[in-house]
Order: sequence, then C-alpha cells, then structure tokens
Amino acid sequence: MLMLKKLWHIIKNEIKNSHNIEILDQIKVKYLGKNGIFNNYMKNLKSFSFEEKKKYGVIINTIKKKTISKINEKKTELNESILKKRIQKEKIDVSLPGRCIQNGSIHPINHSINFIQNFFNKLGFRSVNGLEIEDEYHNFDALNIPKNHPARDNHDTFWLDENRLLRTQTSTMQIRIMKSEKPPMRFIFPGKVYRNDYDSTHTPMFHQVEGLIVDKNINFSHLKWIIYNFIYSFFNKKVSLRFRPSYFPFTTPSSEVDIMSDSKKWLEILGCGMVHPLVLKNVNIDSNIYSACAFGLGVERITMLRYGISDIRSFFENDLRFIKQFKYI
Ligand code: DAH
Repeated sequence: MLMLKKLWHIIKNEIKNSHNIEILDQIKVKYLGKNGIFNNYMKNLKSFSFEEKKKYGVIINTIKKKTISKINEKKTELNESILKKRIQKEKIDVSLPGRCIQNGSIHPINHSINFIQNFFNKLGFRSVNGLEIEDEYHNFDALNIPKNHPARDNHDTFWLDENRLLRTQTSTMQIRIMKSEKPPMRFIFPGKVYRNDYDSTHTPMFHQVEGLIVDKNINFSHLKWIIYNFIYSFFNKKVSLRFRPSYFPFTTPSSEVDIMSDSKKWLEILGCGMVHPLVLKNVNIDSNIYSACAFGLGVERITMLRYGISDIRSFFENDLRFIKQFKYI
C-alpha cells in the first residue's frame, strides 16, 4: 500500500501531460474503467482485515474522487483550447465577395390558380381547398358514380385502403359544401387531385378548380356566361371556344369545353353541366326549388395552352430556368 501514496502523484502528472482528449480518455479508462486500477485495488481489499479495509477504502476513494475532478478539469481546459484554435483559424474574411443567392419565382400553376381565384372572387364566389385524402362516398357514390360504373375505371384511383383514396377530382367538394352550407351558394374549389397516370400529358398529381353555383332558377346559360367570360379573361383575348355535349354521372345535361389551340386543334379544358337531381338529393337539396351548375377545370391544361408548354412534366421538375421564363404582369 506504499504505492497508494505515490499513486496520486503519478495520476496528477499523467493528466497534466495529456495533450489531447484521446489520451485523456485512455487515462480515464486505465484508472476509472470497469477493469481499471481503482476497481482492482477495491477487489484486493477483500483479503484485508476489517480495520484495514476501512482505512484503505477511504484513501482509495479520496484519490478516485480527486482523479475524476482532475480529469474533468483537464477536459474543459483541452476543449477550450480546441475552440480557441478553431476560432482563430476560422476567422471571417469580410473582404471576400458575397455568394449569389438564386431567387425563385411564382410557379405558373400557382399564378393560374391565383388568377382564377381573383376572377371568381370578384363575382362573389368563395374559395375553399378541401381534403386530398377522401373517402369512396364523397369521391364516387354521392356523385352518382356507383360501384361497377364504367366512369370509375377511367379514374385510375390511388386507393389507401378499402374506403380511403387520394381524391381523383375536386368534385368531391361539391358534396361536402352542399351538405354543410345552405343555398344560395357560389364556390370554387382549387386543389390537387391524383390519378395513376404518367406521360407527356398526364402526371399522377395535377390541379383542378371546381366551380359550383346553387340557387333558384340557375340554368345552363349562367354556366355559359361564366365560362366564356373566364376563358376570355384568362387568355386575355377572344379565343375560339366550343361546348361539346358529353357525359358525367353527376351532371345532366353535361358538356365539355374545348378551345382552339395555336396549332388549330380543339383541346379539351374543362367539364361542366347542370348538377344531377340525384346528387342534389344526396345532399338534401330540393331540386324542385333549387338548381345548380358546376364545372371542373384542369389547371395544367389551360396553363400549358396559355404559355405554349408542350410537356406537362416540366411543371414538376423544379428547374429554375423553366420557372424563370414566366414574366407576369
Ligand atoms: N370531375 C370531372 C373530372 O375530373 C370534371 C367535371 C365535369 C367537373 C363536370 C364538374 C362537372 O363539376 O360538372 O373529369
């Protein structure tokens, strides 16, 4: 036990001479580790008498405590000197030229949606976004698209489970709003919709804006007036436009609207019609008193036509060069 007297001296010197954290950690393991010197001393005490155990136990523990606090002290000292060196090395050179931060710009899809919202707000329409995860009832059943109806197959739905899905159309919002509001009402519902489709004219996610008017004496001419005025305003000129009879389960009569592209082809941009009496019945609106018209517009489609974009995928490739081409007035 003579060694004990010298021990503290040795430890102190070792700690003092450790010049980096790794060496300090090795010292810590050597003395304080599970198989370290202090634990071994304690184990050896087993063969000592009670009195001796007491005496040497106290001495060993005192040196152990001093060792712990000395190591911590040294660690702080080493960390401080590391920091000091780093601060000196990483001095900021304020004379260096600055970095150029690239600004983004409004995405053409957002710009179109803003335009559409502005146009319809001025006509007294309120804008509501709605849910992207929907259920079968709001996406299909309530819109008069029963199970096994061929219209369901056209939608290439992303199902989440037996009942929930990513909405394939913003028409879901017609149901939600007609259930929660009282007529008269005028709404638009802009938002994302999802279909399992991918090529130069289809992406699995795209945007629609749905419109809905419910009031007494609403008829097809209201729908035509609104659509003509909206299209002329969006394209900022009197583009050629035609209403083509069509079929949607939730409207009767139904129509699609085409506009003449620069390459003299008719291109479909929206579906519309008078809301089907069965749909009104589903939301408890009396079709003897009220009538309703609705439309659903493809935002990518009209934006592509407006700016002459040929591939729908360029909207979603996050290429700043694409986005920066658009100068809005
Ligand atoms: N929901 C239809 C679609 O995604 C578009 C549509 C057609 C909406 C007729 C309507 C409508 O509101 O009346 O293809």
